[in-house]
Amino acid sequence: MTKIAVVYYSSTGNTHQLAQAVAQGAEEAGAEVRLRRVAETAPDAAIESNPAWRAHLDSVSDVQLATPEDLEWADGYALGTPTRFGTPSAQLKGFIDTLGGLWATGKLANRGATAFTSAQNTHGGNESTILTLFNVFSHFGAVIVPPGYTDPLLFEAGGNPYGTSVPSAGNSAAASPEALAAARFQGRRLAEISGKITS
Ligand SMILES: Cc1cc2nc3c(=O)[nH]c(=O)nc-3n(C[C@H](O)[C@H](O)[C@H](O)COP(=O)(O)O)c2cc1C
Repeated sequence: MTKIAVVYYSSTGNTHQLAQAVAQGAEEAGAEVRLRRVAETAPDAAIESNPAWRAHLDSVSDVQLATPEDLEWADGYALGTPTRFGTPSAQLKGFIDTLGGLWATGKLANRGATAFTSAQNTHGGNESTILTLFNVFSHFGAVIVPPGYTDPLLFEAGGNPYGTSVPSAGNSAAASPEALAAARFQGRRLAEISGKITS
């Protein structure tokens, strides 16, 4: 059975919604899936200043924290993050920066890899955030699995060929049904292609 790790960070829930949908899609393709959130590293005062952030963090205590072993275990991995000035969040980057040992021993290579994000704006840096994660995947020696335009439903979700992205307009849980369908498709595709790469 193909093993897929979905590792993400989310402050206010939008990326969390996408992560759940990517995981669901991978399961639909028959994969064994680990859905993991990376640890919150922001100061408590910052979290307290935003009720949506506090509420989301309190609501995900049942989601296990990601460890490097989750990526070592996986045949394919999906990384998700909110857009921060057109780049991934510090929280996800902090997790990535713990992966040196796995990278040095080649254990992140030759796996499927895909990425997804949420930004406030439709054109607020979604694509640059995902492409920044593609840089990381290249260093890992992973096989990047973008959605491209491989299914008509991707056009309905905004037509981002790099990975699912959802504009939040400042709201949590704002992902449209079309965006969630695209995220499920991305998870299915990751599982199917990762299975072929590692078989
Ligand atoms: C420090 C910071 C930087 C951000 N930078 C951007 C940005 O470059 N473009 C944008 O559209 N939204 C930006 N946002 C908004 C978030 O990307 C947006 O609210 C996202 O939907 C949050 O995802 P989440 O609910 O998963 O945490 C930023 C937010 C913060 C706190």
